[in-house]
Amino acid sequence: MAAENAMIEGRRKHLKKDTTSIQRVDFGAGSQGASQTVSDIARRSLKRTKHAAALGNLAQSMQAEHILELGTSLGLTTAYLATGAHAVTTCEGDPAIAKLAREQWNTLGLTNIAISEGPFAETIPVLIEEWRAKNHPGFDLIFIDGHHIGSALIAYVKELKPWLRPRGVLVCDDIHWSSDMEQAWGQLIEDAHWTQAVDFYEWGMLTANPDLTKEIRSIRL
Ligand SMILES: C[S@@+](CC[C@H](N)C(=O)[O-])C[C@H]1O[C@@H](n2cnc3c(N)ncnc32)[C@H](O)[C@@H]1O
Repeated sequence: MAAENAMIEGRRKHLKKDTTSIQRVDFGAGSQGASQTVSDIARRSLKRTKHAAALGNLAQSMQAEHILELGTSLGLTTAYLATGAHAVTTCEGDPAIAKLAREQWNTLGLTNIAISEGPFAETIPVLIEEWRAKNHPGFDLIFIDGHHIGSALIAYVKELKPWLRPRGVLVCDDIHWSSDMEQAWGQLIEDAHWTQAVDFYEWGMLTANPDLTKEIRSIRL
């Protein structure tokens, strides 16, 4: 596991030095079509090592079978998740970014990642149809890390909630990124469906695990 983490961090170092400029598709806040260097994306948009590794450790400790990630970016957090799980499905709307992510997984030799390309609003319903048709068992971990707009977060959680396994964990990133996201988190934790809601500041974690007693708390990572 440690060697794999070191390899992923090697990719991060490499990407941070890549000054290639790419035209971005922006789905959230920011201007449409602005160009950005790979280095800039690697420095600003990805989960930092300790948080990406924490998610990988969580996947491993849960012995996660299936993981879903919304917001692939350069695919490094996806790589951490994939080292701890049987299979990861990840969704990314920007084709240039998705291509770079695939290159990282190829270099790392990770073959258990499937990427779904396109805006979440279009790809999630298609994926849900596929899961239904395949009798998919659902996900042990769902990580929502893209389109940080409160109403979008609430909509994705509503769509994906039925696909979280009974003891599964839903991680909503950047819940303190804006007052809008904070309000959305406040609304999500009111849902009686969840038995535990933990605010880690970096992200919020929800589970409907029936073994746990109802609790809402905050922990700093
Ligand atoms: C914060 S980055 C993800 C970081 C990644 N999870 C990590 O830790 O390395 C968010 C990504 O989501 C994508 N994204 C944002 N909104 C989207 C949408 N509505 N549909 C599809 N992709 C979207 C962006 O292109 C971006 O690459």
